Amino acid sequence: MRPLIVIGNWKMNGSLASNASWFKSVCRGMEQGMPAGRKYAVCVPTPYLAQCSQLIQDHSPAFLSLGAQDVSAFSVGAYTGEVAASMLRELDCTYVIVGHSERRQYHRETDEQVAEKALQVLDNGMTPVICVGESADERNSGREVEVVRGQISKQVAVLQDRLADCLIAYEPIWAIGTGKVASAQMAQDMHHAIRLQLAEFDEDVASHVGILYGGSVKPDNAVELFAMPDIDGGLIGGASLNPQDFLAICQA
Ligand code: 13P
Repeated sequence: MRPLIVIGNWKMNGSLASNASWFKSVCRGMEQGMPAGRKYAVCVPTPYLAQCSQLIQDHSPAFLSLGAQDVSAFSVGAYTGEVAASMLRELDCTYVIVGHSERRQYHRETDEQVAEKALQVLDNGMTPVICVGESADERNSGREVEVVRGQISKQVAVLQDRLADCLIAYEPIWAIGTGKVASAQMAQDMHHAIRLQLAEFDEDVASHVGILYGGSVKPDNAVELFAMPDIDGGLIGGASLNPQDFLAICQA
């Protein structure tokens, strides 16, 4: 059985003061009781990792783990501005998002770089959350499965059976931050297509990999999405900034 996993992605939001109050509210809410057998995490901006790691320890280490939003494809050296996976591990990260569409779009990240980043994350004992997803144009022209298959096949080629230790996040670009959520059936269809593709490579990998959905997940649509057989949780952007909404999605 794959556990349900809910991961917040704050993107470039937060401040020392607002982070402290977010963790206080979320951890207090989680202490009231959470559904069993689930995992929760939040991916915060890099400069706040140390603060948030401390906040988690202060409040409620059992419930919530920490993640980063990106990582270098290199392990060490002359890469000004980059952050190595080993550094994220030292800051108590459990998860690292790689290949988010915002990085593919604004930083021209390729599937090959995304796979290299995922390898760095795995080599340092953390779980990569590998993002894939099609644009509105790609979906409108009926190419969504082909596009996502292309992204997944590059990951399979590099990561092979180490994919069993990764999470995949299907995030249709047209649904990110737009309020246009994919219907639960639409998301399920793509998650199923991804799982079938992984099964072509290895049945065991396909049954182990958690596939999260991301894109305008809110408290009022999370229940229906998470009930789908191939949706193993969510990667939550905007709604994760609000402690009450994040808690409601975690409980959905
Ligand atoms: P929203 O939930 O704001 O649509 O963002 C989704 C996302 O990009 C999470 O990584």
